[in-house]
Amino acid sequence: MKQPKKRKRKIKVGLIFGGRSGEHEVSLQSAKSVYEALDKQKYDVLLIGVDKQGKWRLGDSSNYLLHAGNPKLIALNKRAPEVTALAGRDQTALISPRSGEPMSEVEVFFPVIHGTYGEDGSLQGMLELLDAAYVGAGVLGSAVGMDKDVMKRLLREAGIPVTGFKAFSRTNFTPAALKQAVKNLGWPIFVKPANLGSSVGVHKCTSLPELLGGIRDAFRYDTKILLEKAVKGREIEVAVLGNDDPRASVPGEVIPRHGFYSYQAKYIDEDGAGLEIPAKLPAGKVKETQALAIRVFKALECSGMARVDFFLTPGGRLLVNEINTLPGFTKISMYPKLWEASGLSYVKLLDRLIGLALERKRQKDRLKRTFEA
Ligand SMILES: Nc1ncnc2c1ncn2[C@@H]1O[C@H](COP(=O)(O)OP(=O)(O)O)[C@@H](O)[C@H]1O
Ligand SMILES: [Mg+2]
Repeated sequence: MKQPKKRKRKIKVGLIFGGRSGEHEVSLQSAKSVYEALDKQKYDVLLIGVDKQGKWRLGDSSNYLLHAGNPKLIALNKRAPEVTALAGRDQTALISPRSGEPMSEVEVFFPVIHGTYGEDGSLQGMLELLDAAYVGAGVLGSAVGMDKDVMKRLLREAGIPVTGFKAFSRTNFTPAALKQAVKNLGWPIFVKPANLGSSVGVHKCTSLPELLGGIRDAFRYDTKILLEKAVKGREIEVAVLGNDDPRASVPGEVIPRHGFYSYQAKYIDEDGAGLEIPAKLPAGKVKETQALAIRVFKALECSGMARVDFFLTPGGRLLVNEINTLPGFTKISMYPKLWEASGLSYVKLLDRLIGLALERKRQKDRLKRTFEA
């Protein structure tokens, strides 16, 4: 007689979203797509919403989001009970901070928090302390990927072409240094905070007064800013997936409709930018872009996933603009769409990311933690 197929135990996945960043709402939208697509036959999904004060709240699948269908109003349900986490080797216990009672367990975390406190290594550091498995880049890759100055210095050191730039903090920002930077870079000049995303605080400047205004604004968001030579070129993006042997997707192209790929074009104006997937590129250029994306991923010590963004100049030169270790993750975002166009569905992509997280944890668990002489 045919034995009934043994049902595999479900993996407990803790989806973390929201967070204390300007990209809170974007994160809620990404999390909604991820939650809906995760295979419920394989996973028990716990919904951990981080509110704007940084508190963790355990959501209920039926009401964890308010106005879920409206990107402008989407919000966390603040009625959800607060939760905190206790370290543990194979699973993390989620407990009530009020009663100390256990509420649930997580075997692998899936952070979907973009930007500050989610993509910059701080959340990853906390998950390391919890001894937890988690999706995406570790502490170092996240932190390095977030800081556009350190990122570009490491890429330059690896012989990877980047845009000309000059970083300023409040201590080295002098009129003489600024004058020299303007002379070296030439107009127009882009100003941006070193550790931000979503084009917040990014300005394209064509004159000194504009530049000074842009610098003032960028310093409102960060203690370190970058001045960059403006690159004329197409914006090409590649998705990378894997740990030790990462793979690159087909390249896609972002086509901003006015000016550059600003916050407005990314999230407000529906027609602000078009995505062309795959990008129209000659086969040789596709291969070159993919190989370069993998070199970037490795040079910055990433794992799991990342999106690598390039400029392609009219002369055919590829320059790396940046890496995003927690790229936008809604169904219509570039990262999942690039994989779909490469033959990997959104659902399978999530499976793969969780598998990679568990694989990295198993590797770490095998390391020796004590030393006997
Ligand atoms: N050096 C540059 N030359 C041309 N365009 C740029 C440059 N830097 C930024 N941009 C434009 O600004 C957008 C946002 O800048 P980016 O460095 O990618 O910051 P963010 O991390 O906020 O996405 C880019 O997608 C591009 O359209
Ligand atoms: Mg960008």
